[in-house]
Amino acid sequence: MKLALIQLAPRLLDRAANLEAALGWMQPAAGQSPADLYLLPELFTSGYTFVRQEEVAGCAEAAGSGPSLDALAGFARRHHCHVVYGFPERDGSKFYNSANLVGPGGLITTYRKLHLFGREKLFFSPGDAAAPVVDLPWGKVGLMICFDWYFPELARSLALRGAELLLQPANLVLPHCPQAMITRSLENRIFSATCDRVG
Ligand code: ACM
Repeated sequence: MKLALIQLAPRLLDRAANLEAALGWMQPAAGQSPADLYLLPELFTSGYTFVRQEEVAGCAEAAGSGPSLDALAGFARRHHCHVVYGFPERDGSKFYNSANLVGPGGLITTYRKLHLFGREKLFFSPGDAAAPVVDLPWGKVGLMICFDWYFPELARSLALRGAELLLQPANLVLPHCPQAMITRSLENRIFSATCDRVG
């Protein structure tokens, strides 16, 4: 399979610019085939460094509808591929730091980050369900988000449920994640892909 990690510099609270930048990087060059899977950073549609709750409220989207889903599921449909992207999710009065997995047929699953980091706890509720494992045409993938790396049980739980590749949208803060993800791969005998933001 061909995996593309779209490490870009999200602009805070500028969803339109972030989607445009991502789709620009994702667009296959003339004569090139698209990747099978595109992985984007944590909270890439909004940026990460929120100061006020109203900022989160202003850029959050429902998992199953909204401009980000339209744009990225549209890309997945046109290019017959899969995309994992981080976004602020709104569900009723609650907000989650979430990642959607979309494919040619639209939304496949949403993962709500279980282990919130630092100031994220001011703005988001922790996830309320296990991290998902999804069977894709070329293998089983497990979703996690950034600071989830700190807790070996999460990767182990994904591996025990059959995940062969961990997909981790990230906005790295602590220094040890890249090394720790190699450890998570070795201790579970699986692959992992981390997509950090830039800048
Ligand atoms: C983090 O979980 N974004 C550090």
